[in-house]
Amino acid sequence: MTIRKVGVVGCGLMGGGIAQTCAQSGYETVVREVNQELLDKGLARIYSAWEMMLSKSKLTQGQVDENRSRLHGTLDLADFADCDLVIEAVIENMEEKLRLFPVLDRIVKPEALLLTNTSSLNITQMGAVTKRPEKVCGLHFFNPAPVMKLVEVVKTISSSEDTIETVKQFAISLGKTTVLAKDTAGFIVNFLLIPYLIAAIRMLENGQASRDDIDTAMKLGCGYPMGPFTLLDYVGLDTTLWAAEAIYEEYKDPLYAPPPLLRRMVQSGIYGKKSGKGFYNYQ
Ligand code: 3HC
Repeated sequence: MTIRKVGVVGCGLMGGGIAQTCAQSGYETVVREVNQELLDKGLARIYSAWEMMLSKSKLTQGQVDENRSRLHGTLDLADFADCDLVIEAVIENMEEKLRLFPVLDRIVKPEALLLTNTSSLNITQMGAVTKRPEKVCGLHFFNPAPVMKLVEVVKTISSSEDTIETVKQFAISLGKTTVLAKDTAGFIVNFLLIPYLIAAIRMLENGQASRDDIDTAMKLGCGYPMGPFTLLDYVGLDTTLWAAEAIYEEYKDPLYAPPPLLRRMVQSGIYGKKSGKGFYNYQ
């Protein structure tokens, strides 16, 4: 199957990054948000990334114009009807996803693929609420999606080999390297990353070391581009909490149990960089 037109549901941190990546890789891209304010905010973030790439001579003015003409914002899921592939990147909430997938299934042409960018929720269940479970799989990007080289292709027990192969080739066409994971909570990266992030929060709770020293230790001691608290703020504390809860729910392994501090920060609206405050202050 040839992919020409891509739909992205959600223009937040991940959806916006995915839409940017698709449009700048030559795909006609439609991105949908729930209201005009969020759509304008998401599109503005993408446009400013292209301006930044222009200022660094990574794009020409002509390429920026072409990218912009390929990217279409909408508030209406009906605009996905003729997409060849739709990537869902809405909030990490299973009820939300289970409401969305049957709607997409009714709207989008029957031969199209329906993908989810979920980081840890059950994709088999999302496929099961459609009439095309064989055309449903995961395509998990990493933040910032236009920069990070990896995507996880996640095969459910129902995804067909054709679907997986098409999605792999699509990801390669976006300039990404793919790894294949089974549909188990956390896939590969978050199964390993979440316990590390959680352990850093526990160290802080226990007073073992300061925020700055933990960040410096992991940055300089392990050569990581960011320490765990900078990364937590970057990924989003809400996203980290949802991922931890989803993996904990699946395995009941205490390694994934969200630390009280993380839960309370999220309950207080402290989500990290995107909310202006996390373990660091961005205001
Ligand atoms: N579009 C295009 N280019 C972008 C961009 C965007 N939206 N954002 C950044 N860039 C480019 C910059 O222009 C810069 O390019 P240059 O090197 O040619 O000048 C390059 O990316 C690096 O950006 P910066 O110079 O601003 O900053 P850094 O060198 O510090 O790199 C970083 C930033 C790439 C975020 C790096 O710190 C990093 O790799 N951090 C770790 C990120 C990570 O681990 N992400 C995964 C999180 S887990 C996840 O997302 C899964 C989820 O399910 C939880």
